[in-house]
Amino acid sequence: MWKEKVTPITIGLVLHMPFVKTLLSYRTGGTIESKYCYSVWLRHLKMLNSVRRGVPKSVAELGPGDSLGIGFAALLSGCESFRAFDVIKYWNVERNLKIFEELVVLFKNKAPIPGNVEYPKVQPQLDTYAFPDNILSEEILKNSLSESRLEAIREEIKNPDNPLNALVKFYVPWNDYKVINSDSVDFVYSQAVLEHVEDLEGTYIAFSKWLKKGGIMSHSIDFKCHRTTKRWNGHRTYSEFEWKIVKGGRMFLINRLPYSVHQELQKKHGFRILKEHPVIMANDIPRNKFSQKFRNLSEEDMITSDAYMLSIKE
Ligand SMILES: C[S@@+](CC[C@H](N)C(=O)[O-])C[C@H]1O[C@@H](n2cnc3c(N)ncnc32)[C@H](O)[C@@H]1O
Repeated sequence: MWKEKVTPITIGLVLHMPFVKTLLSYRTGGTIESKYCYSVWLRHLKMLNSVRRGVPKSVAELGPGDSLGIGFAALLSGCESFRAFDVIKYWNVERNLKIFEELVVLFKNKAPIPGNVEYPKVQPQLDTYAFPDNILSEEILKNSLSESRLEAIREEIKNPDNPLNALVKFYVPWNDYKVINSDSVDFVYSQAVLEHVEDLEGTYIAFSKWLKKGGIMSHSIDFKCHRTTKRWNGHRTYSEFEWKIVKGGRMFLINRLPYSVHQELQKKHGFRILKEHPVIMANDIPRNKFSQKFRNLSEEDMITSDAYMLSIKE
């Protein structure tokens, strides 16, 4: 077990040096690609429609990463406003515009949702990856893709700091739920973010404040080690001290919290879980090799490598 930890700990030590961080150019994940943004948004939209018909008016995304593309896909589906919350601003105007124009083409062509061939690891998985005509009717798309609306969105993408923007707004960094009005959002979603969040309870409190009563949230969470060990769950073998070193000077890495913590926090802060799709992966690490904090996890937490959760604010 110790051998597996040597490289991540060495990288962590190097990352403690402030000048190293400034030399690194960060990439966060998939939103560098328009097809990924299209696929992720339509997956969340389809999951939402499995419990409630229609396109939500006001949407909020936690942790958009390299572009605001998933939110642009929401706007192109007819959502009226999109708000993004992150701790670092990875995106830039040029990339956002490029992704936006590519998304317009995908929507105009009603392209099928990129599925398991292109994105085998992306959750949630769907029964069918056909374009969702039943949700995005001709009438909805005629309005959402009208030239005047596309031009209005482009203008806001080009001028992201304009306080008058109404379609696309961002909050980076955010650390207080009061950055937007309470009860003002219909749909909150995140993709591969909640496993990184340091203050998970504060974040679920924010979701609960932001969402209107009856509002829905949709999250895809990856509990795996994010390359910090060879085995998918080896990150839970590090002691607290070792983990601090592995994290290096990074603002966040992964919080190592198991699935049940999300279930508990959601319930504690006024959500009812409507759908949950845990992904199971075998654990081949003996319990006594896990750090003190994790060796008594439930069997379910031990083998849950990913989860998709859809919940309603009651
Ligand atoms: C793995 S990336 C995923 C990016 C994007 N959602 C995707 O699917 O490619 C994780 C993102 O979560 C963001 N993040 C981490 N902690 C956060 C927090 N407390 N609040 C908001 N975003 C956070 C990171 O800055 C990063 O953009």
